[in-house]
Order: sequence, then structure tokens, then C-alpha cells
Amino acid sequence: MTVLAKKEATARRSALGVSRLSLTIGRDENAIPLLADVTVRVERGETVGLVGESGSGKTLTARAALGMLPRGAHTTGQVTVSDLDVLAAGRKRLRDLRRTRASMIFQDPWASLNPVRRIGDYLTEGLRARGVPARVATGQALDLLDQVGIRNPEGALRRYPHEFSGGMLQRVVIAGALSTEPELLLADEPTTALDVTTQAEVIGLLKTMQQAHRTGILFVTHDLDLAAAICDRVYVMYAGRIVEQAPGSALFTAPAHPYTKALLEAGPSVHGDKVAIKAIEGRPKSLAEAPSGCSFRDRCPLADEECAAGVPPLRTHGASLVTCIRPEQVTP
Ligand SMILES: Nc1ncnc2c1ncn2[C@@H]1O[C@H](COP(=O)(O)OP(=O)(O)OP(=O)(O)O)[C@@H](O)[C@H]1O
Ligand SMILES: [Mg+2]
Repeated sequence: MTVLAKKEATARRSALGVSRLSLTIGRDENAIPLLADVTVRVERGETVGLVGESGSGKTLTARAALGMLPRGAHTTGQVTVSDLDVLAAGRKRLRDLRRTRASMIFQDPWASLNPVRRIGDYLTEGLRARGVPARVATGQALDLLDQVGIRNPEGALRRYPHEFSGGMLQRVVIAGALSTEPELLLADEPTTALDVTTQAEVIGLLKTMQQAHRTGILFVTHDLDLAAAICDRVYVMYAGRIVEQAPGSALFTAPAHPYTKALLEAGPSVHGDKVAIKAIEGRPKSLAEAPSGCSFRDRCPLADEECAAGVPPLRTHGASLVTCIRPEQVTP
């Protein structure tokens, strides 16, 4: 391959490609299915939402992107982060991946940090692991803290996690996640624990950082309104499956799946709360509990016996890709 062809191939490859991923815990008759046929793509520089009720499989999907599978998990399908085949990769390559090319931010910033280690150690360890000398790593950590809006970065380096508020600590975690300029950032409900103003600031920060490094972001949330507002594309997940994929802008005006419509109608969303989601009749199902055929049919106002015949195939409707046999009846 010529240098130019190589460069072009690098530019083309997706930050994340999850292709027909199915995941079960246990084997054979004891197998509990958790994900079925999940396909998610995130390009460099793109913000992609993954939305669904509690238990739909969002965190499992995001963690699978880094090869973090639950104990006893069996998978089929493929996960690639740039050119790495994640499900086939050994421990060392996964560790390198998480240190350098892909980062994850969780809902609870305290979960990412060791309470007895100083912020400075947390922020420099990724850089040190890549062979960056201590003084240079400290300088970069100071820059990052400044960029994420932490006042007195020198003081912050010496402090412990409990000395920060939740919003400030999430900024520190973002600084850590971005310290290695990752190609892929998995943000799992990164703003759910924050008040609305802080939430907006944190999202602004992610977007600014993204532009600087063309990071692909997978933004996991139960808040469809938020996802539709900030994401280029959104995947809607229900009971371990993707049921709709559409540009963020199209979801508000033309939802194609009855579940997406129900999520929108359950709003206005109460950020950081699950009030919006409880408003949909029935209980969210896990894949193991879901009915045969269309998983949503026992909660769907449009469902009849045809919906029990099989899992609806993916089809195009308007700007959406949707797994519903009658999206034309889903009026906004
Ligand atoms: N290690 C595990 N062993 C068995 N079941 C699991 C495991 N991890 C997750 N599950 C199940 O898989 C399903 C999906 O879980 P997941 O954490 O991905 O949901 P989620 O969409 O992130 O929900 P939430 O919005 O509450 O974070 C749930 O039914 C959950 O109980
Ligand atoms: Mg989750």
C-alpha cells in the first residue's frame, strides 16, 4: 500500500464499528440473552447517541466496545475500534487500546477514580505509560485542567477526589479521558448526575475537545430529547436490540418506531431522573423477558398478531432505519 493509500484508509476507518453483536451469559439451555444483533457505527468526529430505558443494554454495548464483557459472556458478531478486532484481542492489546485510543466516562465520576490517589497521579499515569517524561506529563495535565475549566490547576493536581464537587470531578475525569487524545470516547450517562447548567457546560466541553481531535463520541443516555439535540445520529435501543436509527434532527419530527414515539411523548424529560421513562405504559423488558417476534409488541398500541410472527427486519422509512412492520402508522 502506498503512503497516500494508507493515509486514506486511516481517514476512512470508523472510530467504532459494532456489527451484529449478540451477547449471552452462560451457554446452551442456561444461556441468558442480553444483546441481539446490535449494530452501531461511530465515525471520527461524529457524536452518536445510544438511547433507551434502563436495562435495554446500553452500558453492555458501550463496555463491549472496549472489550469489557461481563463474566461468563459469550459473543457473536464483531467489534472494531479503528483497526483493532476487539473481541479477538488479547489483554495487552486491550489495555493499550484503553490507554491510548479509546476512553470511557461513566455516570458517576467517583467510579473512575481511586479515592486515595491524588488527581495529579490520575491525570499523568496514561501519559507516563506512553513514555512521556514526568515533567512533560505534569505540564500537559495542567493544560488539560485549565481547558476543562478547573481554576488553580496546580492546586487541583495535589488534591484528592473527595475535595471536588460532582460537576468539577466530572471535568477532571473528562480531562483524564482526553489526555491521550482518543479516537473514540464512550460517554455513559456522563451528565446524568449533574444539574442542568453543569450538564450543558460539560457537553459544551466534550464538543470542543471533540473538534480538536476528531474524536468519535458514543453518548449513552436514557434522555432521548438530549440525544436528539446534541447527536448527529441516534440509535434507539429496546430490550437488547437496536429498534431505530436516525439523524438526531429527524427523531423529533418523524419518529419511525412506536417505542421512539412513546419515549418522545413521555417528555418533557426530567434530566437526571427517570420520570419521563416511567410514563410509558408497561415495564421495560430485558431481552430475556421480551416476547417473541417484536420485543415491544406487548407495550405497543399498534401491535397485532402479525408482530408476533418474527423479529421485524430492518427497513428504511423516511430518514430512519427501523425494525417495525408498520412505521407509516407512527405519526409524529
Ligand atoms: N454481568 C451481568 N450479568 C447478568 N446480567 C447482566 C450483567 N450486566 C448487565 N446485565 C443485564 O443486561 C441488561 C442490560 O444491562 P445494561 O447495564 O446494559 O442496561 P442499560 O441500558 O445500561 O441500563 P441503565 O439505563 O439502567 O444503565 C439488564 O437486564 C441487566 O440486568
Ligand atoms: Mg447503563
